[in-house]
Amino acid sequence: MTYREMAVALCGGADTPCAPAQDGNEPALPTSEAVYRVKRSFARVAQAEALTARFYDRLFALRPDVRPLFASSLADQQHKLASTLAVVVGGLDDFEALRGAVSALGRGHVAYGVSEAHYAAVGAALIWSLEAETGSLLPEEREAWIEVYGFLSTVMMRAARSAAPNPTP
Ligand code: HEM
Repeated sequence: MTYREMAVALCGGADTPCAPAQDGNEPALPTSEAVYRVKRSFARVAQAEALTARFYDRLFALRPDVRPLFASSLADQQHKLASTLAVVVGGLDDFEALRGAVSALGRGHVAYGVSEAHYAAVGAALIWSLEAETGSLLPEEREAWIEVYGFLSTVMMRAARSAAPNPTP
């Protein structure tokens, strides 16, 4: 899935203003405005564990087929996702320091059975749960999350693709 396809899937329309075109070789780093908006909105999340609980409910409603990929108890997973989000959001100003870890995360996800088609559903569930847990996101904050999530997913998917012996289309 390309960055554009991801943005389109998250935004729900090909020509929506929140679908930045970015199909080049290297995905562009999120802008500093987007990083600021992501941090500002993330700071309004009172309970990271509540956010992730909502996230999984939404994800499994959108895509019940991914439920078996996760351990039957989500307790550890909720903690991991919440802490990773906090680290990644906190580190976005210096993404180069995180790139290796995010690439390794992408390669690791192939072993979990994650495919590119799953990324948009995860992004949609994430943004939905952020909206619910913060009360609401401003339109520009929502766009910023799409930009940042699209970027991280693209780095993960590209790393997974380059590691795959027989990449599937
Ligand atoms: C930006 C996107 C994502 C981030 C930052 C992320 C982050 C993480 C982290 C930190 C872990 C903990 C284990 C590890 O270190 O490898 C994990 C595990 C996992 N993730 Fe993701 N993830 C992302 C996208 C996805 C997507 C699209 C799926 C598809 C359903 C997915 C499914 C899983 C599964 C199945 C596990 C293992 C769960 C278990 O141990 O029960 N993730 N993810």
